[in-house]
Amino acid sequence: MTAEIILKGQVLAFDRSPFGEGAPQDAAKVTEAVALRDGKITGTGTLEDMRTLQPTSKVVDHSDKLITAGFVDAHVHYPQTAMIASWGKRLIDWLNSYTFPEEMRFGDRAYADEIANRYLDLTVANGTTTVCSFCTIHPESVDAIFTAAQARGQRIVAGKTCMDRNAPEGLRDTAQTGYDDSKALLQKWHGVDRLSYAITPRFSPTSTPEQLQAMGALWAEHTDCLMQTHLSEQTDEIEWVKSLFPQARDYLDTYEEFGLLGARGLYGHAIYLEDRERDRLREHGASLIHCPTSNTFIGSGLFDMAGLMAEGHRIGLATDTGGGSSFSMLRTMAAAYEIGQLRGTPLHAAQLMWLATQGSAASLRMDDKVGNIAVGMEADLVVLDLASTPAISQRSDRASDLWEAIFPTIMMGDDRAIAEVWIAGKQAS
Ligand code: GUN
Ligand code: ZN
Repeated sequence: MTAEIILKGQVLAFDRSPFGEGAPQDAAKVTEAVALRDGKITGTGTLEDMRTLQPTSKVVDHSDKLITAGFVDAHVHYPQTAMIASWGKRLIDWLNSYTFPEEMRFGDRAYADEIANRYLDLTVANGTTTVCSFCTIHPESVDAIFTAAQARGQRIVAGKTCMDRNAPEGLRDTAQTGYDDSKALLQKWHGVDRLSYAITPRFSPTSTPEQLQAMGALWAEHTDCLMQTHLSEQTDEIEWVKSLFPQARDYLDTYEEFGLLGARGLYGHAIYLEDRERDRLREHGASLIHCPTSNTFIGSGLFDMAGLMAEGHRIGLATDTGGGSSFSMLRTMAAAYEIGQLRGTPLHAAQLMWLATQGSAASLRMDDKVGNIAVGMEADLVVLDLASTPAISQRSDRASDLWEAIFPTIMMGDDRAIAEVWIAGKQAS
């Protein structure tokens, strides 16, 4: 166990959001070294200053590698690990054909443990240190991911996915059991070590009004918990919601009516928002979670990052494993860039890096703990090799500044770019 260490490299931190006034890159600062002790970041600055701060610490020299906060993946379904990259369907058929049969297996605790550990191995190999995950309707699936994350010292968020209609037999709870099981799991895990519970109605089509009401009541009893769900991902899904809730003003209203709209609410996808929905989400300070590889893979649509950011929305970035086609936040940043291009609003590398770290952490209301490199923050870090393949290296060789050196790794990098991962001040890979 390493209680204290100094890492030398190009240490990337953000002073503010790169989506505000001024050039995006001016929001970032790069220093020479970062010092860690007892799971926390104790300082950043010159190597000399860090040596003065921690004279007995070993120094690991990463030369010109980039040292950044660990990636934060704000919306995933860990139970979909083994069926990622399933071909050819759109959302509702994809759920029925591939997702629900796989999720059915998570009542078996041994299988849930196996996939939870496989998932955390894959994410840490990709530099992701915090995830916010849906589980399945089975309490075993929640126990499995929290147990695996706790053993690794990881800060994660997870919750039992509640569904009491429009799902197959064996994958449905009821309004009452969904409430009771969620409450018991919340009381068991929320705030234990680095673990947080998220109240998790899957989406309006798979919950009755009674279940949404029960979820809203549970959230009102536990206002410090996050609540995660899906919103306006595909147009035929939205039509379905309108037919199931004919009195609702729009999709968001099916949550709002039952107390499921709030500052600690996380709304995955949020592609086809009406003006009223945009206004209400912003007024509440709710988080929209952009899932770009999923939105192209399932054929959902193009998230309006630039417009929503300009309106002042809180936005996180996510893989949406296994609707998303990758475990990698590098690949996810690349897809966010490509979607920006398709909308005529390309994102700067500084904006992409911020979204994958501090932006996602802020969406989870954890940016005071993870997602940046600053004194007092938890020591979850990634060391990125900016020349991890011949193709990337020959391009980054020509870079005239740091952002040009980082961008080829964002666009072409994968787990080979992840040189080291640190979780709570300990080396995890
Ligand atoms: N909407 C409801 N459930 C899901 C899911 O598992 N994945 C995606 N992408 N969208 C959903
Ligand atoms: Zn999802």
